[in-house]
Amino acid sequence: MGPKGLEIIGNDAYLNGYKLESLVKQYTTPLYVMDEKSIRSAIEDYQTYFKGNYFKSSIIYASKAFLVPKLVEIINEYHLYMDAVSIGDLYVALQSNFPPQDLVFHGNNKSFEELNFAIDNKIGLIVVDNYHELQQLIAICEAKKTTQNILFRLNPGINAHTHKYIQTAKYTSKFGESMYDEKIIDKIMNTIKASTCMHLKGFHAHIGSQIHEFGAFRAEINKMVKFQEKISTKYQYDLPILNLGGGFGIQYEHHEKNMSIKDMMMHISQRLDEVLKENNKIKEIMIEPGRSIVGPAGITLYTCSQIKKTYGGTNYLFVDGGMTDNIRPALYNATYECDIVNKMQEKKDILVDVVGKCCESGDIIRKNVYVPHIDNGDIMMVYATGAYNYSMSSNYNNLLKPAVILVGEEITVMSKKEQLSDLLRLFK
Ligand code: LLP
Repeated sequence: MGPKGLEIIGNDAYLNGYKLESLVKQYTTPLYVMDEKSIRSAIEDYQTYFKGNYFKSSIIYASKAFLVPKLVEIINEYHLYMDAVSIGDLYVALQSNFPPQDLVFHGNNKSFEELNFAIDNKIGLIVVDNYHELQQLIAICEAKKTTQNILFRLNPGINAHTHKYIQTAKYTSKFGESMYDEKIIDKIMNTIKASTCMHLKGFHAHIGSQIHEFGAFRAEINKMVKFQEKISTKYQYDLPILNLGGGFGIQYEHHEKNMSIKDMMMHISQRLDEVLKENNKIKEIMIEPGRSIVGPAGITLYTCSQIKKTYGGTNYLFVDGGMTDNIRPALYNATYECDIVNKMQEKKDILVDVVGKCCESGDIIRKNVYVPHIDNGDIMMVYATGAYNYSMSSNYNNLLKPAVILVGEEITVMSKKEQLSDLLRLFK
Protein backbone atom coordinates (compact mmCIF):
# COMPACT_ATOMS: atom_id res chain seq x y z
CA MET A 1 0.00 0.00 0.00
CA GLY A 2 1.16 3.54 -0.65
CA PRO A 3 2.93 5.49 -3.36
CA LYS A 4 6.01 4.11 -5.08
CA GLY A 5 8.43 6.49 -3.38
CA LEU A 6 7.30 5.51 0.13
CA GLU A 7 9.88 3.93 2.39
CA ILE A 8 9.71 2.91 6.03
CA ILE A 9 12.86 3.30 8.11
CA GLY A 10 12.43 2.31 11.74
CA ASN A 11 9.31 3.97 13.02
CA ASP A 12 9.25 6.66 10.35
CA ALA A 13 7.78 6.99 6.87
CA TYR A 14 9.73 8.71 4.10
CA LEU A 15 8.72 9.75 0.59
CA ASN A 16 11.56 9.88 -1.93
CA GLY A 17 13.95 10.47 0.93
CA TYR A 18 11.87 13.16 2.66
CA LYS A 19 10.71 12.33 6.16
CA LEU A 20 6.93 12.92 6.18
CA GLU A 21 6.92 14.20 9.73
CA SER A 22 9.41 16.89 8.73
CA LEU A 23 7.35 17.90 5.67
CA VAL A 24 4.40 18.83 7.84
CA LYS A 25 6.63 21.05 9.96
CA GLN A 26 7.26 23.11 6.84
CA TYR A 27 3.90 22.89 5.07
CA THR A 28 1.48 22.27 7.99
CA THR A 29 -1.51 19.95 8.00
CA PRO A 30 -3.81 18.92 6.48
CA LEU A 31 -1.49 18.43 3.54
CA TYR A 32 -1.97 16.63 0.26
CA VAL A 33 1.26 15.01 -0.90
CA MET A 34 1.71 13.69 -4.45
CA ASP A 35 4.51 11.28 -5.34
CA GLU A 36 6.01 12.24 -8.69
CA LYS A 37 7.39 8.74 -9.26
CA SER A 38 3.95 7.16 -8.99
CA ILE A 39 2.35 9.62 -11.41
CA ARG A 40 5.08 9.18 -14.00
CA SER A 41 5.17 5.41 -13.73
CA ALA A 42 1.37 5.18 -14.15
CA ILE A 43 1.55 7.29 -17.31
CA GLU A 44 4.47 5.24 -18.60
CA ASP A 45 2.58 1.99 -17.92
CA TYR A 46 -0.37 3.25 -19.97
CA GLN A 47 1.95 4.25 -22.80
CA THR A 48 3.75 0.89 -22.72
CA TYR A 49 0.85 -1.53 -22.33
CA PHE A 50 -2.07 0.13 -24.10
CA LYS A 51 -0.91 -0.90 -27.53
CA GLY A 52 -2.09 -3.19 -30.29
CA ASN A 53 -1.29 -4.22 -33.82
CA TYR A 54 -4.58 -3.11 -35.30
CA PHE A 55 -5.20 0.30 -33.79
CA LYS A 56 -3.50 3.54 -32.88
CA SER A 57 -3.75 4.12 -29.13
CA SER A 58 -4.51 7.51 -27.63
CA ILE A 59 -4.56 8.29 -23.92
CA ILE A 60 -6.65 11.13 -22.56
CA TYR A 61 -5.98 12.09 -18.95
CA ALA A 62 -9.33 12.64 -17.20
CA SER A 63 -8.56 15.87 -15.42
CA LYS A 64 -11.58 15.78 -13.09
CA ALA A 65 -9.51 13.44 -10.91
CA PHE A 66 -6.96 16.18 -10.17
CA LEU A 67 -6.23 19.32 -12.11
CA VAL A 68 -3.54 21.85 -11.22
CA PRO A 69 -1.12 23.64 -13.58
CA LYS A 70 1.92 21.60 -12.55
CA LEU A 71 0.11 18.38 -13.35
CA VAL A 72 -1.03 19.79 -16.69
CA GLU A 73 2.66 20.37 -17.41
CA ILE A 74 3.50 16.73 -16.66
CA ILE A 75 0.59 15.44 -18.76
CA ASN A 76 1.77 17.61 -21.64
CA GLU A 77 5.35 16.45 -21.24
CA TYR A 78 4.16 12.92 -22.11
CA HIS A 79 2.02 14.24 -25.01
CA LEU A 80 -1.16 12.84 -23.56
CA TYR A 81 -4.50 14.34 -24.47
CA MET A 82 -6.53 15.78 -21.60
CA ASP A 83 -10.23 16.07 -20.97
CA ALA A 84 -12.21 18.94 -19.49
CA VAL A 85 -15.80 19.03 -18.29
CA SER A 86 -16.47 22.72 -17.84
CA ILE A 87 -15.36 26.13 -18.98
CA GLY A 88 -13.36 26.22 -15.73
CA ASP A 89 -11.42 23.09 -16.63
CA LEU A 90 -10.80 24.45 -20.13
CA TYR A 91 -9.64 27.75 -18.70
CA VAL A 92 -7.19 26.17 -16.23
CA ALA A 93 -5.84 23.85 -18.93
CA LEU A 94 -5.36 26.65 -21.47
CA GLN A 95 -3.87 29.01 -18.91
CA SER A 96 -1.41 26.22 -18.06
CA ASN A 97 -0.32 26.20 -21.72
CA PHE A 98 -1.97 22.93 -22.65
CA PRO A 99 -2.40 22.78 -26.44
CA PRO A 100 -6.10 23.40 -27.27
CA GLN A 101 -6.04 20.84 -30.07
CA ASP A 102 -5.18 18.14 -27.49
CA LEU A 103 -8.18 18.92 -25.28
CA VAL A 104 -11.33 16.82 -25.28
CA PHE A 105 -14.44 18.58 -24.00
CA HIS A 106 -17.02 16.50 -22.10
CA GLY A 107 -20.19 17.22 -20.17
CA ASN A 108 -23.86 16.24 -20.20
CA ASN A 109 -25.16 19.82 -20.03
CA LYS A 110 -22.64 22.11 -21.67
CA SER A 111 -23.91 25.65 -21.71
CA PHE A 112 -24.08 27.93 -24.72
CA GLU A 113 -21.24 29.95 -23.17
CA GLU A 114 -19.12 26.83 -22.73
CA LEU A 115 -19.67 25.63 -26.29
CA ASN A 116 -18.83 29.09 -27.60
CA PHE A 117 -15.68 29.20 -25.51
CA ALA A 118 -14.64 25.78 -26.80
CA ILE A 119 -15.16 26.81 -30.42
CA ASP A 120 -13.41 30.17 -30.00
CA ASN A 121 -10.44 28.43 -28.39
CA LYS A 122 -10.23 25.72 -31.06
CA ILE A 123 -10.62 22.77 -28.68
CA GLY A 124 -9.61 19.62 -30.57
CA LEU A 125 -12.52 17.34 -29.88
CA ILE A 126 -15.96 17.90 -28.39
CA VAL A 127 -17.83 14.87 -27.07
CA VAL A 128 -21.45 15.71 -27.77
CA ASP A 129 -23.76 14.28 -25.13
CA ASN A 130 -27.21 14.59 -26.66
CA TYR A 131 -29.29 15.75 -29.59
CA HIS A 132 -30.12 19.14 -28.08
CA GLU A 133 -26.43 19.88 -27.64
CA LEU A 134 -25.72 18.78 -31.20
CA GLN A 135 -28.23 21.34 -32.49
CA GLN A 136 -26.70 24.08 -30.35
CA LEU A 137 -23.22 23.24 -31.52
CA ILE A 138 -24.24 23.25 -35.18
CA ALA A 139 -25.89 26.65 -34.74
CA ILE A 140 -22.74 28.08 -33.14
CA CYS A 141 -20.43 26.62 -35.80
CA GLU A 142 -22.67 27.85 -38.62
CA ALA A 143 -22.76 31.34 -37.15
CA LYS A 144 -18.98 31.38 -36.79
CA LYS A 145 -18.47 29.69 -40.18
CA THR A 146 -16.25 27.05 -38.68
CA THR A 147 -16.10 23.26 -38.42
CA GLN A 148 -15.63 21.03 -35.39
CA ASN A 149 -14.43 17.47 -34.83
CA ILE A 150 -16.80 15.64 -32.52
CA LEU A 151 -17.45 12.27 -30.94
CA PHE A 152 -20.96 11.38 -29.85
CA ARG A 153 -21.47 9.91 -26.39
CA LEU A 154 -23.47 6.70 -26.27
CA ASN A 155 -24.90 4.76 -23.42
CA PRO A 156 -24.16 1.09 -24.07
CA GLY A 157 -26.26 -0.17 -21.12
CA ILE A 158 -23.56 -1.91 -19.11
CA ASN A 159 -23.95 -2.50 -15.41
CA ALA A 160 -20.42 -2.27 -13.99
CA HIS A 161 -19.85 -3.47 -10.44
CA THR A 162 -19.12 -0.25 -8.66
CA HIS A 163 -20.88 2.25 -6.40
CA LYS A 164 -24.20 3.36 -7.90
CA TYR A 165 -23.16 7.03 -7.89
CA ILE A 166 -20.25 6.26 -10.20
CA GLN A 167 -22.01 3.91 -12.59
CA THR A 168 -22.65 5.78 -15.79
CA ALA A 169 -23.97 3.39 -18.38
CA LYS A 170 -27.15 1.87 -17.03
CA TYR A 171 -30.24 2.35 -19.20
CA THR A 172 -31.39 5.14 -16.89
CA SER A 173 -28.09 7.03 -16.79
CA LYS A 174 -28.13 10.77 -17.53
CA PHE A 175 -25.09 10.51 -19.82
CA GLY A 176 -25.19 10.17 -23.61
CA GLU A 177 -27.93 8.82 -25.86
CA SER A 178 -28.81 5.15 -25.75
CA MET A 179 -27.35 3.04 -28.51
CA TYR A 180 -30.59 1.04 -28.40
CA ASP A 181 -32.79 4.01 -29.25
CA GLU A 182 -32.83 3.65 -33.01
CA LYS A 183 -34.96 6.73 -33.56
CA ILE A 184 -32.59 9.10 -31.80
CA ILE A 185 -29.55 7.51 -33.44
CA ASP A 186 -31.20 7.98 -36.83
CA LYS A 187 -31.98 11.62 -36.05
CA ILE A 188 -28.40 12.24 -34.90
CA MET A 189 -26.82 10.61 -37.94
CA ASN A 190 -29.09 12.37 -40.43
CA THR A 191 -28.53 15.74 -38.75
CA ILE A 192 -24.76 15.26 -38.81
CA LYS A 193 -24.79 14.13 -42.42
CA ALA A 194 -26.83 17.16 -43.41
CA SER A 195 -24.46 19.54 -41.64
CA THR A 196 -21.28 20.79 -43.27
CA CYS A 197 -19.70 21.92 -40.00
CA MET A 198 -19.88 18.75 -37.86
CA HIS A 199 -17.16 16.21 -38.44
CA LEU A 200 -18.23 13.13 -36.51
CA LYS A 201 -15.15 10.99 -35.89
CA GLY A 202 -16.77 8.20 -33.89
CA PHE A 203 -18.50 7.33 -30.64
CA HIS A 204 -17.67 7.54 -26.98
CA ALA A 205 -18.77 5.55 -23.94
CA HIS A 206 -17.71 5.57 -20.31
CA ILE A 207 -19.21 2.80 -18.23
CA GLY A 208 -18.32 3.99 -14.73
CA SER A 209 -15.44 4.48 -12.36
CA GLN A 210 -13.38 2.35 -9.95
CA ILE A 211 -14.03 -0.80 -12.00
CA HIS A 212 -11.75 -3.75 -11.28
CA GLU A 213 -13.16 -6.37 -13.61
CA PHE A 214 -12.02 -6.74 -17.18
CA GLY A 215 -15.39 -8.32 -18.06
CA ALA A 216 -17.22 -4.97 -18.03
CA PHE A 217 -14.67 -3.45 -20.44
CA ARG A 218 -14.79 -6.54 -22.63
CA ALA A 219 -18.56 -6.15 -22.91
CA GLU A 220 -18.09 -2.47 -23.72
CA ILE A 221 -15.52 -3.21 -26.45
CA ASN A 222 -17.73 -5.86 -28.02
CA LYS A 223 -20.83 -3.67 -28.05
CA MET A 224 -19.16 -0.45 -29.15
CA VAL A 225 -17.08 -1.91 -31.97
CA LYS A 226 -20.08 -3.76 -33.39
CA PHE A 227 -22.29 -0.69 -33.10
CA GLN A 228 -19.79 1.68 -34.67
CA GLU A 229 -19.22 -0.70 -37.56
CA LYS A 230 -22.96 -1.06 -38.11
CA ILE A 231 -23.58 2.70 -38.11
CA SER A 232 -20.62 3.41 -40.36
CA THR A 233 -21.96 0.96 -42.94
CA LYS A 234 -25.62 1.94 -42.60
CA TYR A 235 -24.99 5.67 -43.01
CA GLN A 236 -21.95 5.39 -45.26
CA TYR A 237 -20.00 7.57 -42.86
CA ASP A 238 -16.33 7.23 -41.96
CA LEU A 239 -15.94 6.67 -38.18
CA PRO A 240 -12.23 6.13 -37.46
CA ILE A 241 -12.12 6.83 -33.68
CA LEU A 242 -13.66 4.91 -30.79
CA ASN A 243 -13.36 6.31 -27.27
CA LEU A 244 -13.90 3.75 -24.49
CA GLY A 245 -13.72 6.20 -21.55
CA GLY A 246 -11.89 5.55 -18.29
CA GLY A 247 -12.84 3.93 -15.00
CA PHE A 248 -9.88 1.64 -14.25
CA GLY A 249 -9.92 0.87 -10.53
CA ILE A 250 -7.18 1.31 -7.93
CA GLN A 251 -6.49 -0.28 -4.56
CA TYR A 252 -7.94 1.56 -1.59
CA GLU A 253 -8.07 -1.25 0.96
CA HIS A 254 -5.42 -3.80 1.92
CA HIS A 255 -7.64 -6.74 1.02
CA GLU A 256 -8.93 -5.23 -2.23
CA LYS A 257 -7.85 -7.14 -5.32
CA ASN A 258 -6.84 -4.80 -8.05
CA MET A 259 -5.67 -5.34 -11.59
CA SER A 260 -2.51 -3.41 -12.35
CA ILE A 261 -2.52 -0.91 -15.21
CA LYS A 262 -0.25 -3.34 -17.04
CA ASP A 263 -2.62 -6.31 -16.71
CA MET A 264 -5.77 -4.33 -17.46
CA MET A 265 -4.21 -2.68 -20.53
CA MET A 266 -2.80 -5.97 -21.82
CA HIS A 267 -6.26 -7.57 -21.58
CA ILE A 268 -7.93 -4.60 -23.22
CA SER A 269 -5.35 -4.29 -26.00
CA GLN A 270 -5.54 -8.01 -26.74
CA ARG A 271 -9.34 -7.95 -26.96
CA LEU A 272 -9.18 -4.87 -29.18
CA ASP A 273 -6.73 -6.60 -31.50
CA GLU A 274 -9.04 -9.61 -31.73
CA VAL A 275 -12.08 -7.54 -32.70
CA LEU A 276 -10.28 -4.98 -34.83
CA LYS A 277 -8.32 -7.49 -36.89
CA GLU A 278 -11.32 -7.97 -39.17
CA ASN A 279 -12.45 -4.35 -38.93
CA ASN A 280 -10.81 -1.86 -41.20
CA LYS A 281 -13.07 1.02 -40.21
CA ILE A 282 -11.90 1.84 -36.68
CA LYS A 283 -8.31 3.07 -36.71
CA GLU A 284 -7.83 4.72 -33.33
CA ILE A 285 -8.88 3.80 -29.79
CA MET A 286 -8.99 6.36 -27.02
CA ILE A 287 -9.10 5.68 -23.29
CA GLU A 288 -9.58 8.23 -20.52
CA PRO A 289 -7.95 7.19 -17.24
CA GLY A 290 -8.07 9.65 -14.35
CA ARG A 291 -8.05 7.96 -10.95
CA SER A 292 -5.47 5.32 -11.87
CA ILE A 293 -2.93 7.98 -12.93
CA VAL A 294 -3.06 10.16 -9.83
CA GLY A 295 -4.96 8.20 -7.14
CA PRO A 296 -2.24 5.92 -5.78
CA ALA A 297 0.30 8.77 -5.95
CA GLY A 298 -1.48 10.79 -3.28
CA ILE A 299 -1.47 10.69 0.49
CA THR A 300 -3.06 13.12 2.90
CA LEU A 301 -1.32 14.05 6.13
CA TYR A 302 -3.28 15.13 9.20
CA THR A 303 -2.35 16.06 12.73
CA CYS A 304 -4.04 13.92 15.38
CA SER A 305 -5.19 15.52 18.58
CA GLN A 306 -6.78 12.90 20.80
CA ILE A 307 -8.91 9.81 21.03
CA LYS A 308 -12.27 10.78 22.47
CA LYS A 309 -14.07 7.94 24.18
CA THR A 310 -17.87 8.06 24.09
CA TYR A 311 -20.35 6.75 26.63
CA GLY A 312 -21.79 4.59 23.83
CA GLY A 313 -18.47 2.85 23.29
CA THR A 314 -17.15 4.33 20.03
CA ASN A 315 -13.67 5.83 20.20
CA TYR A 316 -13.10 8.78 17.91
CA LEU A 317 -9.67 9.74 16.72
CA PHE A 318 -9.82 13.43 15.82
CA VAL A 319 -7.77 14.78 12.91
CA ASP A 320 -7.50 18.33 11.65
CA GLY A 321 -9.22 17.87 8.26
CA GLY A 322 -12.20 15.83 7.20
CA MET A 323 -14.99 15.79 4.64
CA THR A 324 -13.82 19.13 3.27
CA ASP A 325 -10.61 17.56 1.97
CA ASN A 326 -12.00 14.05 1.43
CA ILE A 327 -15.72 13.81 0.74
CA ARG A 328 -15.51 10.26 -0.62
CA PRO A 329 -16.31 8.30 2.58
CA ALA A 330 -19.42 10.45 3.14
CA LEU A 331 -20.49 10.34 -0.49
CA TYR A 332 -19.67 6.77 -1.54
CA ASN A 333 -18.91 4.95 1.70
CA ALA A 334 -15.34 4.84 0.42
CA THR A 335 -12.81 3.18 2.71
CA TYR A 336 -9.23 4.35 3.17
CA GLU A 337 -6.25 2.81 4.89
CA CYS A 338 -4.16 4.88 7.27
CA ASP A 339 -0.98 4.82 9.35
CA ILE A 340 0.76 7.07 11.83
CA VAL A 341 3.90 8.27 10.02
CA ASN A 342 5.97 8.52 13.19
CA LYS A 343 4.77 5.19 14.64
CA MET A 344 5.00 2.87 11.66
CA GLN A 345 6.18 -0.16 13.64
CA GLU A 346 4.08 0.31 16.75
CA LYS A 347 1.40 -2.17 17.64
CA LYS A 348 -2.07 -1.14 16.51
CA ASP A 349 -4.43 -2.19 19.25
CA ILE A 350 -6.91 0.65 19.69
CA LEU A 351 -10.08 0.51 17.63
CA VAL A 352 -11.25 3.93 16.46
CA ASP A 353 -13.28 5.83 13.91
CA VAL A 354 -11.04 8.50 12.38
CA VAL A 355 -13.14 11.64 12.04
CA GLY A 356 -12.66 15.25 11.03
CA LYS A 357 -13.61 18.60 12.47
CA CYS A 358 -16.78 19.43 10.52
CA CYS A 359 -20.17 19.79 12.13
CA GLU A 360 -21.49 16.56 10.63
CA SER A 361 -21.68 13.05 12.02
CA GLY A 362 -20.89 11.82 8.52
CA ASP A 363 -17.55 13.61 8.63
CA ILE A 364 -15.60 10.37 8.62
CA ILE A 365 -12.20 9.57 7.19
CA ARG A 366 -12.14 5.92 8.19
CA LYS A 367 -14.46 3.81 10.31
CA ASN A 368 -13.35 0.87 12.47
CA VAL A 369 -9.61 0.90 12.18
CA TYR A 370 -6.88 -0.14 14.61
CA VAL A 371 -4.30 2.51 15.47
CA PRO A 372 -1.40 2.61 17.94
CA HIS A 373 -1.47 4.69 21.13
CA ILE A 374 -2.01 8.28 19.98
CA ASP A 375 -0.21 11.33 21.32
CA ASN A 376 -1.34 14.86 20.58
CA GLY A 377 0.63 15.91 17.49
CA ASP A 378 1.05 12.49 15.88
CA ILE A 379 0.81 12.63 12.11
CA MET A 380 -1.64 10.40 10.27
CA MET A 381 -1.18 9.46 6.63
CA VAL A 382 -4.20 8.39 4.61
CA TYR A 383 -3.36 6.43 1.45
CA ALA A 384 -4.57 6.69 -2.14
CA THR A 385 -6.04 10.19 -1.91
CA GLY A 386 -4.55 11.55 -5.15
CA ALA A 387 -7.78 11.39 -7.15
CA TYR A 388 -11.13 13.05 -6.44
CA ASN A 389 -9.96 14.47 -3.10
CA TYR A 390 -8.43 17.87 -3.86
CA SER A 391 -10.70 18.21 -6.90
CA MET A 392 -13.79 17.61 -4.77
CA SER A 393 -12.66 19.63 -1.77
CA SER A 394 -14.80 22.40 -0.30
CA ASN A 395 -14.72 25.24 2.19
CA TYR A 396 -17.55 23.88 4.34
CA ASN A 397 -17.37 25.37 7.83
CA ASN A 398 -14.88 27.80 6.28
CA LEU A 399 -12.10 25.27 6.58
CA LEU A 400 -9.11 26.25 4.48
CA LYS A 401 -8.14 24.09 1.52
CA PRO A 402 -4.84 22.33 2.21
CA ALA A 403 -1.72 22.82 0.14
CA VAL A 404 -0.73 20.17 -2.41
CA ILE A 405 2.95 19.38 -2.73
CA LEU A 406 4.63 17.25 -5.35
CA VAL A 407 7.51 15.24 -3.97
CA GLY A 408 10.10 14.02 -6.43
CA GLU A 409 13.80 14.64 -6.15
CA GLU A 410 12.71 18.13 -5.21
CA ILE A 411 9.53 19.49 -3.70
CA THR A 412 7.17 21.65 -5.73
CA VAL A 413 4.14 23.38 -4.28
CA MET A 414 1.35 22.42 -6.71
CA SER A 415 -1.27 24.44 -4.89
CA LYS A 416 -0.77 26.81 -1.98
CA LYS A 417 -2.60 26.43 1.30
CA GLU A 418 -5.55 28.80 1.50
CA GLN A 419 -5.25 31.72 3.87
CA LEU A 420 -8.00 33.22 6.01
CA SER A 421 -8.07 36.25 3.71
CA ASP A 422 -8.98 33.95 0.78
CA LEU A 423 -12.29 33.30 2.49
CA LEU A 424 -13.28 36.93 1.94
CA ARG A 425 -12.03 37.14 -1.64
CA LEU A 426 -15.48 36.95 -3.21
CA PHE A 427 -17.20 39.30 -0.81
CA LYS A 428 -15.08 42.33 -1.51
N1 LLP B 1 -14.18 9.76 -18.81
C1 LLP B 1 -15.39 10.20 -18.44
C2 LLP B 1 -16.35 10.60 -19.46
C3 LLP B 1 -15.72 10.29 -17.09
O1 LLP B 1 -16.91 10.73 -16.73
C4 LLP B 1 -14.76 9.92 -16.12
C5 LLP B 1 -15.06 10.02 -14.69
C6 LLP B 1 -13.51 9.47 -16.55
C7 LLP B 1 -13.25 9.40 -17.92
C8 LLP B 1 -12.40 9.09 -15.60
O2 LLP B 1 -12.73 8.01 -14.80
P1 LLP B 1 -11.61 7.37 -13.84
O3 LLP B 1 -10.56 6.73 -14.71
O4 LLP B 1 -11.06 8.47 -13.03
O5 LLP B 1 -12.37 6.38 -13.02
N2 LLP B 1 -15.95 11.37 -7.92
C9 LLP B 1 -15.99 9.94 -8.13
C10 LLP B 1 -15.57 9.55 -9.51
C11 LLP B 1 -16.40 10.21 -10.57
C12 LLP B 1 -15.93 9.86 -11.92
C13 LLP B 1 -16.53 10.77 -12.94
N3 LLP B 1 -16.15 10.49 -14.26
C14 LLP B 1 -15.13 9.27 -7.09
O6 LLP B 1 -14.55 9.97 -6.26
O7 LLP B 1 -15.05 8.04 -7.03
